[in-house]
Amino acid sequence: MTVPDLRTARLRLRGLEPADTEAIVRVFAGPDTSRFLAADLGDPDQCRASVERRLACTGPDGTGHWVVERDGDVIGLAHLRPSAELSGDLVEIGYFLDPAHGGQGLSTEAAAALPRHAFAALGLPAVWALVHESNVASRKLVHRLGFTDVGGGEHYGGPHRVFVALPTTLGQWHHVELWVPDLARAEESFGWLLAELGWQEHQRWRDGVSWKLGAGYLVVEQSRRSPPPRTAAARRASTTWRCTPARPNASTSSRKPRSRTAGARCSPTATRTPAALIITPRIWGTPTASNSNWSPNPRVSLDRVNQSLH
Ligand SMILES: CC(C)(COP(=O)(O)OP(=O)(O)OC[C@H]1O[C@@H](n2cnc3c(N)ncnc32)[C@H](O)[C@@H]1OP(=O)(O)O)[C@@H](O)C(=O)NCCC(=O)NCCS
Repeated sequence: MTVPDLRTARLRLRGLEPADTEAIVRVFAGPDTSRFLAADLGDPDQCRASVERRLACTGPDGTGHWVVERDGDVIGLAHLRPSAELSGDLVEIGYFLDPAHGGQGLSTEAAAALPRHAFAALGLPAVWALVHESNVASRKLVHRLGFTDVGGGEHYGGPHRVFVALPTTLGQWHHVELWVPDLARAEESFGWLLAELGWQEHQRWRDGVSWKLGAGYLVVEQSRRSPPPRTAAARRASTTWRCTPARPNASTSSRKPRSRTAGARCSPTATRTPAALIITPRIWGTPTASNSNWSPNPRVSLDRVNQSLH
């Protein structure tokens, strides 16, 4: 299991090692750090046993346990690993800070690095957090990080809220399709602008071309049912086709979208404006609330959360 170094403005998160054991015992010394846990990790022996379990834990590469360092000193512990409490291999986040360093936004800063890593490097569909009902600081922290409270239940021996964070790409655009009457003219008209803005030609085929920038891409395709008008007068009178794919999510890859051949419904329109369709990405993941023992938050549509995960 490889646990990569993660850096933030003030902190370094690095993989937990056996040599960190006594530093972790210091993080948990006193009643505060394990106040909301089932075990009293303020007891050094219980804490050492807990560190051993963490060191023995196996999970997918890139997940695991990190110590949180500030200026070379270990001041906390954090994890991102398959949940022992939520079924379905859901990945759960956790964080613990030496109270001597509390109230400076350090836990927020450390914890924020984990979903970032989970989404950007590991490509996980969601990150979960279980927070004790009475743990005000931790509830504020997950809210600040954009987690959504999706329910509540008994976890780790007490009442916990269940939070989930989704990749920030959710709801952002995935690609745009433009149907144009004259591909050559469309390229001449705005191809140069895309290049100026850093877009790169991605694919080209008989009736179309796509450009890519970051995660998004743009497809320009000449409608086969409306051949390019040959004269200016014909161009003015030209009909374009407004298309609605029958399977709007059929294409989630960066390959040329198949919507025109995947049951798309096309109808002629009187407008000369090219038809356009914006398709946002869907996030694919694992079953969520249905097989867990918590009750949904009535103020949040679990269907929406689940849909966004499938
Ligand atoms: C919860 C914990 C990680 C917060 O650490 P921290 O570094 O003090 O937190 P931050 O400074 O990043 O602040 C996080 C939020 O909690 C609030 N907060 C911090 N201490 C608080 C306290 N004692 N009471 C109420 N709110 C508090 C902060 O104001 C901040 O909220 P804001 O962003 O709305 O201002 C830390 O107290 C801790 O280790 N607790 C024990 C372990 C634990 O409960 N871990 C979470 C398991 S899910």
